[in-house]
Amino acid sequence: MKCLEEEKYYRKFNWSANPFVLKVDPKLFIGYEQQVRALCRHIEDMHKIALLTGATGAGKTTTLKWLEMNYPEAKYISKPPSNPEDLVNIFLEFFPLSFFERLFKRKPTLNSLPSYINKKMKSKLILLIDEAHEASRDVFEWLRVLTDQIDNISIVLAGLPIIEEKIKHELESLNQRITTRVTLTALSQTETGLLIQKRIESVGGKGTEPFTQAAIHEIYKRTGGFPREVLKFCDRLILSASEKQLDKIDAGDVINHKDVNFPSEQKILEPSVTYVDRPLPTQDINSLPSKQRKILEILSKQDWLSPSAIIEQLDMSNYKSRGHAVRSINNILKRLMIDGFVQRESHGKAFLYALTPKVKVILAKH
Ligand SMILES: Nc1ncnc2c1ncn2[C@@H]1O[C@H](COP(=O)(O)OP(=O)(O)OP(=O)(O)O)[C@@H](O)[C@H]1O
Ligand SMILES: [Mg+2]
Repeated sequence: MKCLEEEKYYRKFNWSANPFVLKVDPKLFIGYEQQVRALCRHIEDMHKIALLTGATGAGKTTTLKWLEMNYPEAKYISKPPSNPEDLVNIFLEFFPLSFFERLFKRKPTLNSLPSYINKKMKSKLILLIDEAHEASRDVFEWLRVLTDQIDNISIVLAGLPIIEEKIKHELESLNQRITTRVTLTALSQTETGLLIQKRIESVGGKGTEPFTQAAIHEIYKRTGGFPREVLKFCDRLILSASEKQLDKIDAGDVINHKDVNFPSEQKILEPSVTYVDRPLPTQDINSLPSKQRKILEILSKQDWLSPSAIIEQLDMSNYKSRGHAVRSINNILKRLMIDGFVQRESHGKAFLYALTPKVKVILAKH
């Protein structure tokens, strides 16, 4: 049975559990030194608003959790509220009403919140707001007003890269108040190795065992150092290695890794990202047909786009009708996915597309 094989494999390396589960644990944080330094400076100087962006799986939540662990005044909020009025409740969690205020029903409103907080606050407040790209215009506006009027508050907003555009186009006054902008790209090769090592040591293993340095080099090449991709890929490599009870996982094992033996129930448990597990695209991107290149160019600027969002950025004069365009783009996206250039994620009934990590790395070098 698979489970027993895996357990036996973990025991071989003295592991108490699978090191590559997709949990967020700030104690296992690694790398992104420049970005972390910028955020720490922002917080320590009590600047008002910082913006932390990065593709999905780049490490935004982990970075915020790391800040929460290191600054006692920091509060992590997993999602912005959908209504501005709910901001009051968030602040009340940190600065609760006194017995008398409750008794006389003196709950502050959005307008009276700043003076209420200024009275209650002893030192300072650092708000770390995750998934900020989901906030409505109203919520952003009120956050700006509150940060203007509350004396000792510093905010870090974290979100997908689309938040940049949203703020730039719709919220100029907020945009102007952002003093720190930090982007999480990907880990370096050394950091990728350290991520793997830290994970393995956290469950009782030694160094990067069973991965050799050459294997880590290949893992880095395949995943582009995107943390979530590294963890998912290592998890799959360990699963395959446990079937053969390999003592070590070397470069060849990584290069030749195929997901054919992936058990179906595991596939369902996987997050919805469809990972096209293929070797690096051998085709030179420049030699692709122009329509394919154009789509890659659009996706290089923004992750997780729907086919219709892609169509909006295309020259429609090349198509007879919108229906033709939709069919053509869907076919091109399928082709690009099969060739390992793009990956997709299901969102309800629709699919969203992004470049695969390895293509991002190639494009970054162009
Ligand atoms: N710098 C890092 N050091 C160690 N592990 C990391 C780092 N960055 C990310 N990870 C790991 O990678 C996985 C994905 O990270 P995380 O959830 O923080 O990404 P995210 O940017 O918040 O993604 P999403 O946009 O999907 O919410 C997590 O399991 C996390 O533990
Ligand atoms: Mg996150």
